[in-house]
Amino acid sequence: MSTPHDHNRRAWDAMVSKGNRFTLPAKDEDFASPLSVVDQPGWLGPSIVGKKLLCLAAGGGRQSALYAAAGAQVTVVDISTAMLEIDREVASQRKLEVRTVAASMDHLPMLATGEFDIVIHPVSTCYVPDVVKVFREVARIMRAGGIYISQHKSPVSLQCDVVGSQRGYELTEPYYRSGPLPPVVGSRHREEGTLEYLHRFEELLGGMCRAGFVIEDLIEPLHAKPEAMPGDFEHRSRYVAPYIRLKARRTGSGEISRPQSTLLLPD
Ligand SMILES: C[S@@+](CC[C@H](N)C(=O)[O-])C[C@H]1O[C@@H](n2cnc3c(N)ncnc32)[C@H](O)[C@@H]1O
Repeated sequence: MSTPHDHNRRAWDAMVSKGNRFTLPAKDEDFASPLSVVDQPGWLGPSIVGKKLLCLAAGGGRQSALYAAAGAQVTVVDISTAMLEIDREVASQRKLEVRTVAASMDHLPMLATGEFDIVIHPVSTCYVPDVVKVFREVARIMRAGGIYISQHKSPVSLQCDVVGSQRGYELTEPYYRSGPLPPVVGSRHREEGTLEYLHRFEELLGGMCRAGFVIEDLIEPLHAKPEAMPGDFEHRSRYVAPYIRLKARRTGSGEISRPQSTLLLPD
């Protein structure tokens, strides 16, 4: 039987053949000031030279190349070998050193405990059923004090209808749900052909804290445009922010023991 991982590996391999927007490598002009392109909020400070940096679920020749050009020692992990092939091609063309590892973000035994100073994790936790396993793995492979930057699909956005109605964008999916979201066609906040899971804020934020991180900052990257027309991604984004981006720091202690869910707590 195909697992969600197998399904999504095939889906992302296919997206490479189709030239999906997330499979496009960094542009020439991005290399003029690579760190400012990938770290617009400035969360990593002025220099990452010599830092051991993991681009997690980040194949496609964009993040790996730009962080390597900014001076970091880069490893990129992705489940799709087609995505990683782009990282290898770009690194070779630009004479950059990038280590590629084909693996799932929730199972990283090939990476050493405490190996990384920085983990960069673009939108992708939606592709695994259990996000807590991911945070545990990230916590294990990071050194104390290391910075974990991740972006996630907002659970509220995943609840809202893809197309608008007279009443805006209605909540059509329950917040408390299991299994993948219904398939979608023609949406820019979902990826067609993949299996995607809604992770509640409690799982994203609480799960990260319980795995041994403190959250230092949170932004909702702005995609809303006042002039956008109904049906556009930017119009839907006026009603519901599609993503959250988090800056978290690995604490010195190990995993923190707290209840796994407020569902367990009394009123
Ligand atoms: C939205 S793309 C992010 C990378 C992209 N280069 C970008 O522009 O941000 C999502 C990535 O997650 C990867 N992915 C999906 N499921 C994964 C898993 N279980 N483990 C690791 N990577 C996974 C996909 O292959 C894809 O490369």
